[in-house]
Amino acid sequence: MSFHLVEHPVIRERLSRIRSIDSDTAAFRGAMHDVARLMCYEVTRDLETRPTTVQTPLCQTEGHALARPLILVPILRAGTGLLNGFTDILTDAAVGHIGLYRDEETHQPMRYYFKAPANLAEAEVILLDPMLATGGSAADAVDELKREGATRIRFVCLIAAPEGLAAFSTRHPEVPVYAAALDQCLNERAYIVPGLGDAGDRYFGT
Ligand code: PRP
Ligand code: URA
Repeated sequence: MSFHLVEHPVIRERLSRIRSIDSDTAAFRGAMHDVARLMCYEVTRDLETRPTTVQTPLCQTEGHALARPLILVPILRAGTGLLNGFTDILTDAAVGHIGLYRDEETHQPMRYYFKAPANLAEAEVILLDPMLATGGSAADAVDELKREGATRIRFVCLIAAPEGLAAFSTRHPEVPVYAAALDQCLNERAYIVPGLGDAGDRYFGT
């Protein structure tokens, strides 16, 4: 298992705003955007580059380009809350979408949409969803990305539950997981405790 807890004082402060029941939709959205933007640096730290040549106003010098194209894939709905923080930095990344919702009784992921760029196989794919609860949704999304040809996938969430992290890493041990917090446990409804509640509802005000 490759698990990265992304630690930063500003992330910790924004995460407290995200968790708080007193944060309204605007505060929740703003803080999630900030955390995504900050996490982007750590998530992309080990991306490979290739040498290039750059002409400055004075002379030619060595430059660097990312070795592979980037594809960001938010899991609908709540994953879109992390998307703009990443595109702020990775301005030319392509974006795919996976639509999943968790069945309220069984907690199993139900897939309803998939659309991704054709070059999945050659790209670095960054899968985005704020919550890793049972791990079913993220693992199902990775199943689908692999079926469509992706080989280099990393998963980014805000909050992971130990149960979800274990389940996800058993199904996809080679996929690194980045989280801003590892919480205590799941409750009887498979919500993360202490968590933040329902990420999609809070982000979209539903
Ligand atoms: C939430 C969250 C994840 C999933 C995590 O989505 O955004 O996709 O639950 O739970 P899991 O790890 O147990 O699968 P939800 O099903 O509420 O859909 P929504 O984003 O459309 O509200
Ligand atoms: N989905 C959420 O939005 N929150 C949880 O705590 C678990 C699943």
